Amino acid sequence: MTQTVDITQVVAYDLTAEDAAVIMSLSRRLADEFSSPQDPSLFEELEVISGEVPKGVRRAAVRARLTEGTGALVLRGLSVIDTQLGQTPSGWRDADTDGTRIHAFQTLLLGSLLGDCIGWDAQQDGRIVTDIVPSPAMEESLVSSSSSRELTWHTEDAFSPYRADWVGLLCLRNPARVPTTITTVGLHGIPDDIRQVLSEPRFIVLPDSAHEMAPSATHAIPVPVLSSADSGSVLRVDRDFMSAVPGDDAALRALTWLTAELDANLTDLLLEPGDSAFINNKVVAHGRRAFVADFQSNERWLKRVNVVRDLRLSRPLRASGTSRSVMAS
Ligand SMILES: [Fe+2]
Repeated sequence: MTQTVDITQVVAYDLTAEDAAVIMSLSRRLADEFSSPQDPSLFEELEVISGEVPKGVRRAAVRARLTEGTGALVLRGLSVIDTQLGQTPSGWRDADTDGTRIHAFQTLLLGSLLGDCIGWDAQQDGRIVTDIVPSPAMEESLVSSSSSRELTWHTEDAFSPYRADWVGLLCLRNPARVPTTITTVGLHGIPDDIRQVLSEPRFIVLPDSAHEMAPSATHAIPVPVLSSADSGSVLRVDRDFMSAVPGDDAALRALTWLTAELDANLTDLLLEPGDSAFINNKVVAHGRRAFVADFQSNERWLKRVNVVRDLRLSRPLRASGTSRSVMAS
């Protein structure tokens, strides 16, 4: 059964045609100046040029960032012209295309309104902007290249203490109108005894298979599901890659309770071409409904970026101060 997450948790902004044109023009400037969204010198310029994003969009981002408990910022009406995209590739390796690179810059520009964009060494060759397309033979997998299997709720990269504060998605194509999903849990709705257990390091989160790495001893260290931060309580979950410490019955009961709650609160968030959602990765888990992919030239396609509020935290796992690619350990 699907229930509705409190809609006040989503900050929505409908761009004007002029907003969209200005953002596209800024993205083109970046694409002209920097050959690749990976260029380390791009990120300083991003910070500067994002000040030229129309005020209404910047205001919506500020509101999302400063309003405690915001679940997502949804920007609708960005410029995406289907005929300029080229064919949807059958895998991420072929997805950094000439026709869509402008949208990688667009994604970075929007992400920079909320913080600093990062990627992962072990995910999609360390690209900062990654691609989500369904892939043949991956239909039943547990990662975002799946299709006929639902992508279950998770906070992005829940295994890592360096995971994003925001995960950004820009929809290029979605012909079958397949919904992204979001879910969360109200702290006050959690019974005290369960909240206590969830707040203790009694849970194991393994890296999902989108990271080309073997689980290490670090990943066997139990972590809490709930923790407090200055901005409120932090949720760290992954339905498929998380478990209670073996033999800890109370932890298993608490996780079972939370799983049922997050399942019940799962809500559709439909992204159509030109829609961008920045999901608060410390408050809301996300996933995607199952669908039948036909792997035609116009298959579903999203650009994705991770955004952190404090880049310095991940410095021990980045090769240099200017690198934006985090080595997962
Ligand atoms: Fe995800």
